[in-house]
Amino acid sequence: MEDFYGRWLVQSAEIEKTVSEAPRVARSKDLKWLRTRQDFTAALMIAPETGFPTGGSLLMRAEIPAGCHTGKHVHGEEAIYVESGEGFMILDERRYDFYPGTIFHVPYRSSHQLFNTGKVPVGYLSGLAWPLEAAIKMGRIEQVEDAGENDPAALANFPSEESQYWPADRRRISMHQAQFEKSGETKHGATYFLMGRSGKQNGFKATSVAISSIFVDLPRSKSHSHAHPEAYLYALEGSGYSEIGGQRYDWDQGDAVHVPPGMMHHQHFNPTDKDMKELRFEFGIRYWIAEQWKGYTTIDRHMKATHLDE
Ligand SMILES: [Fe+2]
Ligand SMILES: [Fe+2]
Repeated sequence: MEDFYGRWLVQSAEIEKTVSEAPRVARSKDLKWLRTRQDFTAALMIAPETGFPTGGSLLMRAEIPAGCHTGKHVHGEEAIYVESGEGFMILDERRYDFYPGTIFHVPYRSSHQLFNTGKVPVGYLSGLAWPLEAAIKMGRIEQVEDAGENDPAALANFPSEESQYWPADRRRISMHQAQFEKSGETKHGATYFLMGRSGKQNGFKATSVAISSIFVDLPRSKSHSHAHPEAYLYALEGSGYSEIGGQRYDWDQGDAVHVPPGMMHHQHFNPTDKDMKELRFEFGIRYWIAEQWKGYTTIDRHMKATHLDE
């Protein structure tokens, strides 16, 4: 009988093969929408369940109909991007308002619930490290309340927003689109640093999952190129393609691109006449690996964004 070590060697080779052959784009048009206890409609984009070899992370898209709220729950850290609609989140009994473009950091084990107070559905994206937390047996999810319709009396009783920061340690919880500042970074046409490890963190303290930045790639341009561990890009605007590990993957607005764990070289291309705008998620586990890896470095081939013909 084969010993445990022999099986590890086989498993290691299988992991390499799975990652190299896996899909790289989660297509908006192919999503399988479901009702869950937490959301009226939710679909996994990049996740183990949808066939992506993630490093213990996932990206979910969800909708809250007008006049409704999500469930209230407690779990590990979460990063949320509000794509459309408006309302507020109640986090640890305090209110944080949101509009299209607002980002939220949900601290580890903070209770939270989102209310749609507008006339149109709220669309949001959620980054989680649930598969990793489950694998290390630290992933308890507590469902306090299920998704449902808003009670106008209860809505009127919620306090108004006092601050965008968390009283426990003054870290930032929310940031609105109007508060995003363009950096001097030249790796893309424009870069807005939001809550990641590199660049400005704006008072956020994300550890396991961060909406690190927004990139804008200008018409007929290509980004810098490099290799590093896992990151996700969600296409907010425009369409284009990414080269990952030497292969081309086309995508449109609403799709999400998986730069897999490992060190796969990648670069993003805008062959169109319109701006391409991408929301980037990154997960803290990649830094846990990078910090113990002597000689670790992102492998850069092109340092700057350039015109397609250059
Ligand atoms: Fe949550
Ligand atoms: Fe990258």
